[in-house]
Amino acid sequence: MERLKDKIAMVVGAGSIGPGWGNGKATAVTFAREGAEVFCVDRNAAAVAETVKIITGEGGKATAFTADVSQADQVEAMVAACLKAYGRIDVLDNNVGIAEMGSVVEVNEASWDHVFAVNLKSAYLAMKHVIPVMVRQGGGSIINISSIASIRHVGISYVSYGASKAAMNQMTRTTAVEFAAGHVRVNAILPGLMKTPMVEHSAGLAASYAKGDVEAMWRARDAQVPMGHMGEAWDVANAALYLASDESRYVTGIELVVDGGLTCRAG
Ligand SMILES: NC(=O)c1ccc[n+]([C@@H]2O[C@H](COP(=O)([O-])OP(=O)(O)OC[C@H]3O[C@@H](n4cnc5c(N)ncnc54)[C@H](O)[C@@H]3O)[C@@H](O)[C@H]2O)c1
Repeated sequence: MERLKDKIAMVVGAGSIGPGWGNGKATAVTFAREGAEVFCVDRNAAAVAETVKIITGEGGKATAFTADVSQADQVEAMVAACLKAYGRIDVLDNNVGIAEMGSVVEVNEASWDHVFAVNLKSAYLAMKHVIPVMVRQGGGSIINISSIASIRHVGISYVSYGASKAAMNQMTRTTAVEFAAGHVRVNAILPGLMKTPMVEHSAGLAASYAKGDVEAMWRARDAQVPMGHMGEAWDVANAALYLASDESRYVTGIELVVDGGLTCRAG
């Protein structure tokens, strides 16, 4: 149970927008269970406090920090605070993400810009400030949480979400190549249909799937997947654990798909 022993891990988007387990919350708890000290960041102070409470309640070590990571000054402050608390950053998990519905015809410009700021600019800013630290230390592992919506139309119209995640994939590949010599690994995880609070509380998703009926949305999502069911936040957390640990030391620039076989199916 010590796959991340002696590592300092920063999880950005470590809360969850409702009760239950979001991907970042499960990842922060998994990292702590494997011996990492976790610097947990979220714009929602109560949500990130809950994640830290779970970790410390289990005997793990974690610190909460509140920031809107679409804002450059707040990302700089986040990195400075982590360095002040721990002196290094071995793992960065960029997990924040939002989905707003609509095709290119329907999405308004403000919504487009907002989705790109939260989903893409946040990861750019975090890497911009964390990579120099990792290079100075002699290396590190960065995990960008993308989505299978970056490579497929999954039946829901949210073009800005898929486009921002697709850009994240290419930013991941490019950055992996550019910092490989500095032993900074940069990988993406592409979750499929996960059963998380974000999905449960998105009126737009429930409306798109099943006219607002959340139970019917769960059934529709289960039915889409070859394995017959959605994934859980823990499936994303376990993939992130592998990429954070030294077990993946020769792996960089990949898109790790975690989707129960969904993207393998033609229709
Ligand atoms: N749930 C799914 O089916 C699914 C599928 C594919 C990809 N993903 C991706 O997984 C990630 C997490 O999803 P989740 O379902 O666990 O969502 P979630 O909303 O439960 O967790 C995301 C957290 O990020 C925080 N956050 C959002 N914007 C922020 C900002 N600007 N600054 C700081 N914190 C911010 C939220 O407060 C929340 O606590 C997202 O990137 C999402 O796109 C989810």
